[in-house]
Amino acid sequence: MQVVVTKSYDESCAYVAKMFCDLVREKPDCKLGLATGGTPVPMYKKLIEACAKGEVDFSRVHTVNLDEYCGIPETHPQSYRYFMNTNLFDHINIDKANTYVAQGMGDAAANAAALEAKVREGGVADLQLLGIGNNGHIAFNEAGDTLTAEAHIEQLTESTINANARFFDSRDEVPTTAITMGMADILAAKKVVLIANGPAKADAIRGLIADGSITTHNPSTLLKLHPDVVVVIDEELAKAAGWQG
Ligand code: F6R
Repeated sequence: MQVVVTKSYDESCAYVAKMFCDLVREKPDCKLGLATGGTPVPMYKKLIEACAKGEVDFSRVHTVNLDEYCGIPETHPQSYRYFMNTNLFDHINIDKANTYVAQGMGDAAANAAALEAKVREGGVADLQLLGIGNNGHIAFNEAGDTLTAEAHIEQLTESTINANARFFDSRDEVPTTAITMGMADILAAKKVVLIANGPAKADAIRGLIADGSITTHNPSTLLKLHPDVVVVIDEELAKAAGWQG
């Protein structure tokens, strides 16, 4: 695992955006695994800027997103489909038909099976973007005694519901279940880049980068099983996580 410590969150976003742009330039028909949440938003802005300047061409790129809330339609401002459209897809030259965000409405088991199929359709992701939950979750694979390999429906923990309540008018509106890629789906990607920022992530990041231990109680630690993972954090978070370098 490579740990990259930057001077600032903005620099972290620039670093990750460059990874994506370099890949798309090198392999114009690449497959990208994408994430939602607050953390990647400034990184997506940098991709939009690069595309506007003609520095990168997304016209042949395919994408698959990690997860989606259950029970809210894709027109809901907090659905992850809506998030991806408004924070990225609407502003770059990607063909939306080549983007996939799982369905949150309807038959949950069928939606999970459809996501599982998309993870490998046309090959696995060349680069998978991840954020990390305060409890170490990646995608919506929540910390607990067990984890699930394949795409599935996950019961969100109190910690995650509380963290995500900031995006909703009230905590009661936060969905309590989500459809998510499983651990094997994430580990199948050719390369993984995880970006994190802020003191709330310090414990989870410490578990991820401090040593070689793996625990289902911090799902991100399973990334230690992957041969090509880059963790991008700023100095402040590195310090809070006790990173010695
Ligand atoms: C989002 C996702 C989640 C988030 C995580 C951190 O698609 O899979 O694992 O990456 O909850 O969210 P933020 O960035 O809002 O702190």
